[in-house]
Amino acid sequence: MRIGVLTAGGDCPGLNAVIRSVVHRALVGHGDEVIGFEDGFKGLLEGRHRKLDLDAVSGILARGGTILGSSRLERARLREACESSKELARDLGIDVLIPIGGEGTLTASKMLSDAGLPVVGVPKTIDNDISSTDRTFGFDTAVGVATEAIDRLKTTAESHQRVMVVEVMGRHAGWIALESGMAGGAHGICLPERAFDPADLVKMVEERFARGKKFAVICVAEGAHPAEGSMDYAKGAIDQFGHERFAGIGTKLAGELERRLGKEARPVILGHVQRGGTPTAYDRVLATRFGWHAVEAAHRGDFGKMTALKGTDITMVPLADAVTELKRVPENRMNEAESVF
Ligand code: F6P
Repeated sequence: MRIGVLTAGGDCPGLNAVIRSVVHRALVGHGDEVIGFEDGFKGLLEGRHRKLDLDAVSGILARGGTILGSSRLERARLREACESSKELARDLGIDVLIPIGGEGTLTASKMLSDAGLPVVGVPKTIDNDISSTDRTFGFDTAVGVATEAIDRLKTTAESHQRVMVVEVMGRHAGWIALESGMAGGAHGICLPERAFDPADLVKMVEERFARGKKFAVICVAEGAHPAEGSMDYAKGAIDQFGHERFAGIGTKLAGELERRLGKEARPVILGHVQRGGTPTAYDRVLATRFGWHAVEAAHRGDFGKMTALKGTDITMVPLADAVTELKRVPENRMNEAESVF
C-alpha cells in the first residue's frame, strides 16, 4: 500500500509523533511505502512530497512542530482539489491519505473523502475542541505550559501586589483556560462559553485584598467576551480563512480592571508558546496510538473516518460526526471550577 500523510492547520506538539508512528507501523508492520506532503494541502495540490523511511522519522518523537510543515488552505482552492481528487490520488499514486489536523483540516478531509479520495483522518489541536474524541494530543502540553505560567505569575504578582491577566489560546472552546486555571489555582477563569461581567472580577479582587491576599491571577481564553453592556469590547474582523481575529481580551480586561480597581493590572499573552516545544509523555503516547490505528484503519479500508479516544480505547468515528459541532466546555465542567465567572 502507498500511504500519503500530511499535517495541516495550526501546528501542535505531537504531530511528529503521529508521523513517526504511521511510518513505523506502515513500513515495519505492513511493508508499505509512505510519502509525506509538504506544507499541508498546499503540498498535496502542488505535488510537493518526499518519501518517508525509518531514517526520515528517526529522533522526531520528542520534537515539537512538524517535519512536514503546515499551512492553512483557502476554501476556493480546496473546492478545486475536490473536483479532481480522484485524478489527484491516481497521479500521486497513493492508496490512502492520512491528513492530521484540526477542525478545518478534518472538514477539508471530509470534502475530499466525499469526492472519492480514500481518507483516514487523525485529529489534532491544542484547543481540545474536536467532537467525537475525548482528547486531542497537544492539549496536555498546552495546559502544562499555561499552568506553569500561572504558577510563575502568582509569585511575581504577590511580590508587587498586582493583578495579572493571563490570556491563553481557545477560540470557541475554553478547555485550556479551564484546565490550566484549575491546575494553577487561578482566582478567576473566563471562557468563551460563558460571557463574564468585569464587575464580578472586581468584586473578587477587592475581597481578596480585604482578606490580606494582595494579588490575583485571572486566566482568560482568547475567545472569552464580556456580557453585553458590561464593558467596551468590539469583536475582531474575520480573516481569509474564516477565523475571527481576536481583539486582545487579555489586554483590554487588564486595562479595565486597573481603571476600576485603582490597582496595577498587567496582561500576559501566552500565545504560540503554548503550541511550541516538546510534547508531554501523555501527548506522545496518544499521538503514537492515533498513528498506529490510522494505518490499521487504512488496511481495513475504513475510509471517511478518523481516529478517536473514547475512555482509554482508540476507535474510528465518521469524519462527519467530528466536524458538525465543536466540543465546548459544558456547564457541569464550569460549575466544578469555583473561579469561573
Ligand atoms: O486552533 C488552534 C489555535 O492554536 C487556536 O487556539 C489559536 O487561536 C489559533 O490556533 C492561532 O492560529 P495561528 O497560528 O494561525 O494564528
